[in-house]
Amino acid sequence: MTTPLQGTRREATAAPRGDVLAIRGGRALRGRVKVTGAKNLATKAMVASLLGETVSVLRDVPELSDVGVVRSLLEVHGVHVSEGDEPGSLRLDPSDVESAHMEEIDAHAGASRIPILFCGPLLHRLGQAFIPDLGGCRIGDRPIDFHLDALRKFGAVVEKLPSGIRLSAPEGLHGAEITLPYPSVGATEQVLLTAVRADGVTELHNAAIEPEIMDLIAVLQKMGAIISYEPNRVIFIEGVPHLRGYDHRSIFDRNEAASWASAALATDGEIFVEGARQQEMLTFLNVYRKAGGWFDIHEDGILFRRGGPLKPVVVETDVHPGFMTDWQQPLTVALTQAEGESIVHETVYENRMGFTDALVKMGADIVVHPHGLDGGYRRVARRELEQAAVINGPTPLHGADIVVPDLRGGYSHVIAALTASGESIVSGVEILSRGYEKFLDKLEALGADFDVIG
Ligand code: UD1
Repeated sequence: MTTPLQGTRREATAAPRGDVLAIRGGRALRGRVKVTGAKNLATKAMVASLLGETVSVLRDVPELSDVGVVRSLLEVHGVHVSEGDEPGSLRLDPSDVESAHMEEIDAHAGASRIPILFCGPLLHRLGQAFIPDLGGCRIGDRPIDFHLDALRKFGAVVEKLPSGIRLSAPEGLHGAEITLPYPSVGATEQVLLTAVRADGVTELHNAAIEPEIMDLIAVLQKMGAIISYEPNRVIFIEGVPHLRGYDHRSIFDRNEAASWASAALATDGEIFVEGARQQEMLTFLNVYRKAGGWFDIHEDGILFRRGGPLKPVVVETDVHPGFMTDWQQPLTVALTQAEGESIVHETVYENRMGFTDALVKMGADIVVHPHGLDGGYRRVARRELEQAAVINGPTPLHGADIVVPDLRGGYSHVIAALTASGESIVSGVEILSRGYEKFLDKLEALGADFDVIG
């Protein structure tokens, strides 16, 4: 059997067992869960190993399907991937990197968006790259124009094919001055992974500065890269001709930690999230406290529960150091139980409120404004693509048959079912394996009452 730390191959198979859950709600989640490495760092650090001339070791790699996808793609390009010297570590040996066949790459790309980040490293190693059509969660158009524009500035030639994109760099890659139209996480990573070995200096303006990006910069510095940054979203990269492997322990998964914290809030339980750290979650913790949550910071994690009745909040999602877009869905479930009107403004993606339909079906009072809402104090500048959800609570939730739409929305559906009275049938749960390690085991350990029925 294939585990998420092993490779994956895209095949037309029936949904795997664990895709449909019968959840009986009304029981508070209590206990301890451990979060390990961040999906949003581990997958990128694995790609970075392609740039080194010696072996890299990545520690605290989460067991997620996206990790399996990246592992497979590295393997089809000749990287030898094996278990490292401790559980949860991977050894990545890039000494035999070679070009892969288009069909092979396509078969292993799965539903992930990470393959786009192979462009720069493959151009440096092989002078060419093929990137298949990208998947990822259905939370908007998720275009790759920033990525392609940046790659062209480095000197790459981009050719669009019906099945994907072919890139070449006939004259090598050179440093560039790039200004991102929006501080995109993926596009910033693209620039970092390409600039570190480009000829000359790269100046990146309007860069994303998420903690996972800072951790990727740390990985690249261990490999021999020269990267500095200024407080105003400017990153300077001085290209070097050779990089070596790294030994790195991944930053913890802030998204998973915030999800379990919101589950404690919604179900009126108490969860100790081992591995969670305060520094990277400051913004989340402020909102948690304002919504009536209570937390206690320990050296090895954070304890989360309610501090009294839940209170309504107004939240605007934003790039770091703002409130992450991945945090709003689980929090919204808790806000259905708060006394009064909450507003969640989604300003990062254009289609990340679809998950609220299921909450409404379960009895929540949520009205989505597809073009956003004006008025009130704003910290984040109004964006054209934004939407807003107005949540009026408290409303008791009741069980329903629901289908998971995407990763974070799916998590919120499971938490809503656990908060609701009666039984819910939740389908499409398998998608949660993209971002939640050992999800069903953790639910069980926290005392959730459910059966796997499909
Ligand atoms: C990453 C995270 C995801 C998180 C998101 C925002 C990973 C695997 N995923 O996604 O969990 O929700 O950051 O914090 O790291 N955009 C463009 N053109 C581009 C690229 C992006 O218009 O070429 C837009 C997107 O449509 C979106 C915004 O920029 O509106 C932010 O996207 P981005 O930060 O790139 O998200 P991801 O890197 O895909």
